[in-house]
Amino acid sequence: MSTLDHEQVLIRTGPRSGLPVIVAVHSTTLGQAVGGCRLWRYADWRDGLADALRLSAGMTAKCAVAGLANGGGKTVVAIPEGAELDAAMRRAVLDDVADAIASLDGMYATGPDVGTTPQDMAVIGERTPHVFCRPAQHGGSGDSSPATALGTLAALRATSRRLHGTRALAGVRLSLVGLGSVGMRLAHLLADDGADLLVSDVDPAKRAKNKGLRATWVSPEQALTADVDILVPAALGGLLTEDVVPWLRCSAIAGPANNQLATAAVADLLHRRGIIWVPDYVVSAGGVINALTVELHHETPDKARERVEAIEHTVTDLLDTADHRQVTPAQAAAEQARLRLDTPRLAST
Ligand code: PHE
Repeated sequence: MSTLDHEQVLIRTGPRSGLPVIVAVHSTTLGQAVGGCRLWRYADWRDGLADALRLSAGMTAKCAVAGLANGGGKTVVAIPEGAELDAAMRRAVLDDVADAIASLDGMYATGPDVGTTPQDMAVIGERTPHVFCRPAQHGGSGDSSPATALGTLAALRATSRRLHGTRALAGVRLSLVGLGSVGMRLAHLLADDGADLLVSDVDPAKRAKNKGLRATWVSPEQALTADVDILVPAALGGLLTEDVVPWLRCSAIAGPANNQLATAAVADLLHRRGIIWVPDYVVSAGGVINALTVELHHETPDKARERVEAIEHTVTDLLDTADHRQVTPAQAAAEQARLRLDTPRLAST
């Protein structure tokens, strides 16, 4: 039998919205659990629960490896497929989420994630103080996507150094899957650096929106299996399945999408194919690092940026450690997270 490795999972039917509200608190060993609020469509609410369980565990690892004194959690509201949220329904959902978070009494704080915005955080903030990334005029640090994109850029520099011996991305062939709020920003940063860039999104309308971007548009399938140096998953999770691995033609994979591996075994399959997979929770930590540095530790935006850019060193160390110890980067990262969780004093702030 598998065991529940979460401290607490709250599941309730939102009294206003009638929708399943799930708050998974994975760990508070290092401090208050943090993790975004995902409003997403699921065929079955139990799929939303599975997502919340996995994503919250990922947040624990994300905070631990980033050296943050916080644990991991996640909120998921499972919207039935085909349903649209009008303004009144959205408000009802956010009020339901806020009450669920308030009932946890500070054990967990939320932030934006797929399907939510800083404005939504301001709405949640009307009912509970345990929320990050409200717009600046509401006292928060605002959109976390620019910091997540910047942190990903840092991770890509470290990955590129591992492949080519230089952190410069000019001429490096990259394939970006997903042009959401993080992916889009990242595409512009990479193009500015002179990367040789393929971009894709399931939504063809994104193509027109990107007329100014110096990149080649391809289909998501082409992007996934393109002959490139680094594949950059920036869409929803589960992209890397056991079936897809034999078709990949990249040398490394590093991107901000959470939960990229469909199963844990995929990390080993990639390793056996000689493809370096940089764990998603290390790559994508920029948003949460920025929000906590500014809002919790009251540091300046410059200091926060420095901490986000330090992801480059984290990834460099991780890839070196994996090499020396002859383990996958996934194993090296998991061990580092475990070490920090076992000896919380070693974690910095
Ligand atoms: N969506 C963010 C992530 O996956 C979560 C987050 C960002 C939480 C900022 C709090 C503050 O890392």
